[in-house]
Amino acid sequence: MIKILSVAFFFIILSESCLTLKSDWWEDASLYQIYPRSWKDSDGNGIGDLKGITEKLDYLREIGMTATWLSPIFESPMADNGYDISNFTNIDPIFGTLEDFDALLKKAKNLGLKVLVDFVPNHSSDECEWFKKSINREDGYDDFYVWADGKDDPQNPGKKLPPSNWISIFGGSMWEWNEKRQQFYLHQFYKEQPDFNFRNPKVHTAMLEVLKFWLDRGVDGFRIDAVPHMYEKILEDGTFPDEPLSGETDDSNCQDFLKHIYTQEQYETVELLYEWREFLDEYKRVHGGDTRVLLAEAYVSVETIDQYYGNGTHFGAHLPFNFNFDAMLKLPHLNARIFEETVSLWMDSIWKKHKMGNWVVGNHDLLRVGDRVGEERKDLINILVAALPGVTITYYGEEIGMTSIFYDCEDCLTGEERNFGRSPFQWNDDISAGFSSSPNTWLPVAENYKKVNVKVQRGVARSSLNIFKASQKLKHTAAFKAFKDKGGFSYGALNENVFQIIRGSNEEYRILANFGNKLETIGALLSSHKDGRNYFEYILVTCYSPHNIGDRVRLESVFLVPFETVILKKILKK
Ligand code: GLC
Repeated sequence: MIKILSVAFFFIILSESCLTLKSDWWEDASLYQIYPRSWKDSDGNGIGDLKGITEKLDYLREIGMTATWLSPIFESPMADNGYDISNFTNIDPIFGTLEDFDALLKKAKNLGLKVLVDFVPNHSSDECEWFKKSINREDGYDDFYVWADGKDDPQNPGKKLPPSNWISIFGGSMWEWNEKRQQFYLHQFYKEQPDFNFRNPKVHTAMLEVLKFWLDRGVDGFRIDAVPHMYEKILEDGTFPDEPLSGETDDSNCQDFLKHIYTQEQYETVELLYEWREFLDEYKRVHGGDTRVLLAEAYVSVETIDQYYGNGTHFGAHLPFNFNFDAMLKLPHLNARIFEETVSLWMDSIWKKHKMGNWVVGNHDLLRVGDRVGEERKDLINILVAALPGVTITYYGEEIGMTSIFYDCEDCLTGEERNFGRSPFQWNDDISAGFSSSPNTWLPVAENYKKVNVKVQRGVARSSLNIFKASQKLKHTAAFKAFKDKGGFSYGALNENVFQIIRGSNEEYRILANFGNKLETIGALLSSHKDGRNYFEYILVTCYSPHNIGDRVRLESVFLVPFETVILKKILKK
């Protein structure tokens, strides 16, 4: 009897410990990026704001999201649409007030949604008080930014040349002369965005205070901006070494002209990520609550991602963004094999080691997915991404298949073309697509808004929106949950065009996507004949599909029309 009881007790302990092994909230989150200027305008000035977001938060639950990340909402002169912050602990009046932000957080908490904000530690605005103090060499601010004397100009005695040949992201020298201080300051991005000097401990303290301010208000984490750009190389004599030519372009004004061995991915960056992670973890230890999460924006190799995640002793970002997908989606010849390679690049390295995955398909710096992969494949991408393990990251509007707006910009070198993918969200077919009561919105509304909008798509069974919702719903079922060390997930290209994902261990789901414009028959592609004899039921079909939900079929008889993507569920024998 005692033996039986102790065995029973053992199983209770075991099952409880299994429960505690449950994924943390962020590990299989559905994250939605809101670009606040463009999501919902509550006061009719043509620019989106916090009250607008709060008003519409329920929509995120409707589409199955578990968290949202807001692009910058802080005080800013808007030289880079808010990525140039003049006060890190206040809301810009165009977006509202701190009270509006509190109200947003409150509603989000009631809805069970996590809210993350952007953290932009690499630079401030040139209108930030800290920068003004630094120009004046005020006590404590002298070295807050990266200042340098520059080189003597042999052609113009008394004049100075930039300290190094470094080129900023948006073109032109990374150094700007400041008349008042009689020195150059460094700016990796626009000249209105002077870089902080992270070799100064006071800057570390200031940034931790920024994190604390927003944590105290109740945010669930941060997306860290421009991670690889935090440090630049300085030689022992205080000079900055020139970067070598890349050979990629002859345009000496363009950032690609140089190889960024001294201005990106310097070794100190990893330590900085560990410092912020430690701060967040400690905050949780002291204040309780759920894990506060760090996302990291870094267009880097998987080797660097690995370091940014952590080394087993120290941890950095929970989710360094996987931008391999973005790179893949730009390829004109994208097919099932390339998709497989891109998934494997991550699964065989980062997932294998850390059991962490995330799949970035869009953001505010990119063209819309449909414009990159072709409109006929945008739903296919949304379905496949939701079927992969880990976190989906959806840029607002991708769920309804919004397209980029293209217009003549004065000088596309300035980065203005990034606005093409930032047009107002299309809620309905009213004035300004329901985004604003004003017909004058900060960017034009895309012309297709009468058809491509939430209201219309809610009512169409196979709309992008309904397909997105259905795939996100499946993502959060037991069969699709992060599989960790257990089985229940396999993937691969069956030929050039057909990609297959298998999910579930007790139940079995097949996701089959046809990347190509030809009819594909699955029977010929299956490795096992036995497998083909099993019966499956259609549970999700794209708009091109000649099949219906509920149709039953033997796997070997499945065919896919061009661009068709389906999810099938195995019918278990009674
Ligand atoms: C990031 C942002 C981009 C911004 C830059 C400078 O790359 O995504 O929009 O311009 O950082 O902050």
